[in-house]
Amino acid sequence: MEPDKQSTQRQATILLVDDESINLSVFGQLLAPYYQVLVATSGQRALQLAGGAPKPDLILLDVMMPDMDGYQVIGQLKADPNTSDIPVLFVTALSSDLEEEKGLSLGAVDYIYKPCHLSILSARIKTQLELKNARDWLKDQNAYLETEVQRRHLENQAVHMQLLQSEKLAAIGQLAAGIAHEINNPIGFVNSNLNTLNGYLRDVFCVMDACDAALDEKLLPVKTLQNLRELKQAKQLDYLRSDIPELIAESRDGLSRVRDIIQDLKDFAHADKNDWELGDLHKGLDSTLNIIANELKYHCTVTKQYGEIPPIYCLPSQLNQVFMNLLINAAQAIETKGDIQIRTGCAGQDVWVEISDSGKGIALENLPRLFEPFFTTKPVGKGTGLGLSISQNIVRKHGGRIEVVSQLGVGSRFRIWLPIRPPELDAAE
Ligand SMILES: Nc1ncnc2c1ncn2[C@@H]1O[C@H](COP(=O)(O)OP(=O)(O)OP(=O)(O)O)[C@@H](O)[C@H]1O
Ligand SMILES: [Mg+2]
Repeated sequence: MEPDKQSTQRQATILLVDDESINLSVFGQLLAPYYQVLVATSGQRALQLAGGAPKPDLILLDVMMPDMDGYQVIGQLKADPNTSDIPVLFVTALSSDLEEEKGLSLGAVDYIYKPCHLSILSARIKTQLELKNARDWLKDQNAYLETEVQRRHLENQAVHMQLLQSEKLAAIGQLAAGIAHEINNPIGFVNSNLNTLNGYLRDVFCVMDACDAALDEKLLPVKTLQNLRELKQAKQLDYLRSDIPELIAESRDGLSRVRDIIQDLKDFAHADKNDWELGDLHKGLDSTLNIIANELKYHCTVTKQYGEIPPIYCLPSQLNQVFMNLLINAAQAIETKGDIQIRTGCAGQDVWVEISDSGKGIALENLPRLFEPFFTTKPVGKGTGLGLSISQNIVRKHGGRIEVVSQLGVGSRFRIWLPIRPPELDAAE
């Protein structure tokens, strides 16, 4: 059988190793028309050529050679990562099963006895080269697949990050609108109070000016006194006396509401730190409730039943994010009007926070998927499906868990369990 030149895309390189030049010449003549042939008459030279360029695709190796025999050569070839993948075919005059077994166990791919039929040698060489090609192709494919998997993984991560980012932005936008509304209201009436006060002061100064003018007269005529009395009455000075302190108190109240909202925002964001610390969950719940008041107050009645719970080691701003996600989910589950209950308690070394709603509930088949990233039943633009998955990650980071009970048409209850001292904190110390 003739070796098929077309079966390989490029001309394969074969290294012939034999200490007898007659063998080299016979094999060389057979192979030279089809392959690039390298020859070595010693083991040392063979190792040199195998590690150089062009790298042989196949080595025909004699066993019995002076200095270094074929077994030693193959041992070194296989030990070097640069040459270990070159298939080695033993061509030897040693014909015994034991020898053959030894050669194969050292990593040879085939064993041929001299003298051999040249067409058989050709056929075996061709087979081995095709196998090598197939192996190389598989290796390339594997490498390609690995980089492809890696690339897609990175792509997925980028999309994930982008979605997280846009969810954050959407949530911040929504909150900002709510907070703007909360701040606008007191600012509005403080402003209107200032306008009223301005008018009042104008009246007060008008009366004072009249008094000053009267004081300049040597003797106060009855008429002037009469005018002063009438002016005082017209400007309702007695009424102003009682209304001005009220306006001021109301304005102060409005400004302190604005100050509280800003404080809540600061507490919520804990912008200055993101460290483990002893946190008061009730404080976190309250500031979160204030922040999202605008999302709740028109259609939900919120009741709180806070139990006795100790402060716990936590990342307070991250737990606030969990409370916010659960509270907003609860509010969004309530379609017309309904109730949200927040309860807290302590059991052994754990505390729990429960947020339940009288909303539409969760279908049984959706329960196992709730915490999957991107799982949402909300319309596009309303939910990204990340709220619960983010919350679960945060709670797990705290060594805790989230339990859910829900019934369609009745409502849902999410209970967060948190250890007072998370295991991660102990591990970190
Ligand atoms: N209190 C609840 N009542 C009813 N269904 C809920 C409640 N909480 C969560 N779900 C269901 O779980 C799904 C996933 O909730 P999750 O908070 O992870 O995402 P989302 O609210 O859809 O979107 P996002 O929170 O990113 O805005 C929701 O789409 C909803 O179907
Ligand atoms: Mg949500």
